[in-house]
Amino acid sequence: MNDDGYFGAKVARTYDQDHGGNDPIVIDRVVACLKELAGTGEALEFAIGTGRIALPLSASGCKVKGIELSNAMVAELRKKETDGSLQVEIGDMVSARIPGAFSLVYLVFNTIDNLVTQEAQTACFENAARHLVPGGRFLIETRVPPVQRIPFGQTTLAFACDEKHIGVDEFDLVNQTYTSNHVWMTGDRHEFLSIPFRYAWPSEMDLMAKLAGLELEYRWADWDRSPFDHLSASHISVWRKADV
Ligand SMILES: C[S@@+](CC[C@H](N)C(=O)[O-])C[C@H]1O[C@@H](n2cnc3c(N)ncnc32)[C@H](O)[C@@H]1O
Repeated sequence: MNDDGYFGAKVARTYDQDHGGNDPIVIDRVVACLKELAGTGEALEFAIGTGRIALPLSASGCKVKGIELSNAMVAELRKKETDGSLQVEIGDMVSARIPGAFSLVYLVFNTIDNLVTQEAQTACFENAARHLVPGGRFLIETRVPPVQRIPFGQTTLAFACDEKHIGVDEFDLVNQTYTSNHVWMTGDRHEFLSIPFRYAWPSEMDLMAKLAGLELEYRWADWDRSPFDHLSASHISVWRKADV
């Protein structure tokens, strides 16, 4: 791992093609939701990456800034940007500050799980709250820990298996962490990558939010705002900072 964490130049170069997050219908839905939640204020994306969401949100008329650990991911954002105006602070979303007072801070695509301790995740909520105006919102999109699908006594779950990619998550159910293990195959070459994560239940996030002075306002199962229930595989949660 280098200074760019698990998102170095090689990953960054193919990031936009390598996952299903680029479906324009989904992006439109995400952007519409974020824009409405930001209202007339500014939005801040934690872990802005290649600007997959921030660039279309900015193009929709919402002022957006970002914090991001990886220079390589931001380099990809700059390639797509037309006017070079999106302000990004290179740093850790747990502690980095960017000037401004925001009506919306958002952290999408399961990225809260990239913070591998409870302390770091709690600090991330506190850093979000610090950037918010009174009445401002912090939104997280992440998966519900899929531990119900792990057979009793076992610790692994396969999530990809084809001729190009094998993926297996390995869970540490005592410490609430998991590693995502990938093998990518091209011709007779293969590459292995293992990334550590921490999972937290929605209720634990509510507690982290409370510690940061935020209260749950919405919890949806998806960007179409469908209700969250016991079968939901992911959640979009929105916490609000008190008005003064
Ligand atoms: C799955 S990508 C999501 C990128 C973007 N938000 C999107 O939706 O496409 C995860 C991003 O989080 C960044 N990241 C991971 N840990 C971080 C941290 N502690 N602070 C800031 N960025 C971080 C990575 O560099 C990477 O760009």
